Amino acid sequence: MKNKIKVGVFGAYRGKTMIDVLAYHPNAQLVAVCDKYRPLLDEAGKLADKAGIKVALYDNFEDFYNHDMDAVVLANYATEHATYAIRLLKSGRHILSEVLPCETMAQAVELIEAVEESGKVYAYAENYCYMDQTFEMWRRYKNGDIGEVTYAEGEYIHDCSSIWPNITYGDRDHWRNRMYSTYYCTHSIGPMITITGQRPVKVVGFETAPMSEMYDLGHPGGISAGIEIITFENGAIAKSVHGQLKREPGSINYEIYGKKGMMETERFDATRINVYIEGEELCVGELKNYAPEKYVAAQLASNSGVGGHNGSDFYATHFFIEKILGNSEGYEYSIDVYQAIDMGICGILAYRSILNGNVPVKVPNLRNKEERDAFRNDNACTTKSIAGDQLLPLSSYGEKDIPEEVYDRVRQKWLDGQA
Ligand SMILES: NC(=O)c1ccc[n+]([C@@H]2O[C@H](COP(=O)([O-])OP(=O)(O)OC[C@H]3O[C@@H](n4cnc5c(N)ncnc54)[C@H](O)[C@@H]3O)[C@@H](O)[C@H]2O)c1
Repeated sequence: MKNKIKVGVFGAYRGKTMIDVLAYHPNAQLVAVCDKYRPLLDEAGKLADKAGIKVALYDNFEDFYNHDMDAVVLANYATEHATYAIRLLKSGRHILSEVLPCETMAQAVELIEAVEESGKVYAYAENYCYMDQTFEMWRRYKNGDIGEVTYAEGEYIHDCSSIWPNITYGDRDHWRNRMYSTYYCTHSIGPMITITGQRPVKVVGFETAPMSEMYDLGHPGGISAGIEIITFENGAIAKSVHGQLKREPGSINYEIYGKKGMMETERFDATRINVYIEGEELCVGELKNYAPEKYVAAQLASNSGVGGHNGSDFYATHFFIEKILGNSEGYEYSIDVYQAIDMGICGILAYRSILNGNVPVKVPNLRNKEERDAFRNDNACTTKSIAGDQLLPLSSYGEKDIPEEVYDRVRQKWLDGQA
């Protein structure tokens, strides 16, 4: 019998996507799921029964940790990935991490070193890099179709105010209520990095004014939108914008300008892209608009039935499994720890830029061992237990005291929705 990779999934809300992929993947065996929220475990159990597989269900992490498995998907709280990843890598497990890769600069260094020392696969599940449009832009850039990047834009506008009760449960300390504007940055930055292969070297951050309804929903900083202006290693400039701005439907949009042309997603038709390629004569070229087809593991992706987020949700898990197995597809497309950290620390450092009056901040290349020491004790973040005396405010506009009644109301709204 073929050797399948035994995988456990930690966090079964977003993790349901990975559970769906793993339950039917020919090279993987879903063996365990962990979530402290029982209804999600029950749902995972039903899915396993339907797929005809035996899956152990755990409501506490320590029991899950002791389960016999080769690899773990981290779909737990976004600020806690690095801590769990480091511990699991040290125990010999491969890691697929949901967004974000780390909460602090110190964790970025520790995570990279844990991957290097363990020799295990670390893959970053930035699914926005594998959408039908962004994945096609990745292929065409690699093919040299538009030449070297000069300017790029990445946009992930998602006003979460209407779903805030469902995704924070009225928990004052939920990571979304402790998140600052530029933290959740890799949906917009990620594809610009995978498409162009560039590394960020400098970032300037901005944030829009607080949104009053977010205070009423339990965010003490009234979280709004974060903006990062990034300089790439080759001098190209990239603009990333993400978060709470008013528009429906939300926007997922990317533009890449090169020395020979440009590519962009079709703003109001998520299935299409525009590609302009200049010819022999200046300012004269061909503009094409088309709907890209999947070009990697297309049959498997469509058989999986997991096509959320513009066709991307299958791929992060698939490439992770293929990389563990040593297959070229996995090596080519799986996002490694260095690129994950490049994407994630742009948001961490952009916030420092904001808190210091939008000054430019150097983005270190943590591939270089000599650049790491400066960050080993850099715990600055908005989680008290992690930051200690380096605690940051939730917004440059200050914080409001949110009374307990607000969380009670939000929690009730969530519970009403569950009934
Ligand atoms: N890539 C995407 O498109 C996408 C979309 C949504 C969420 N996410 C990411 O997925 C992750 C999870 O987000 P979410 O939306 O599912 O909400 P969430 O962060 O509230 O859910 C995390 C889940 O993990 C469980 N959990 C956390 N710590 C636990 C512990 N110590 N023991 C047992 N269970 C524990 C919680 O009960 C919860 O069900 C986040 O990192 C988020 O950034 C990614």
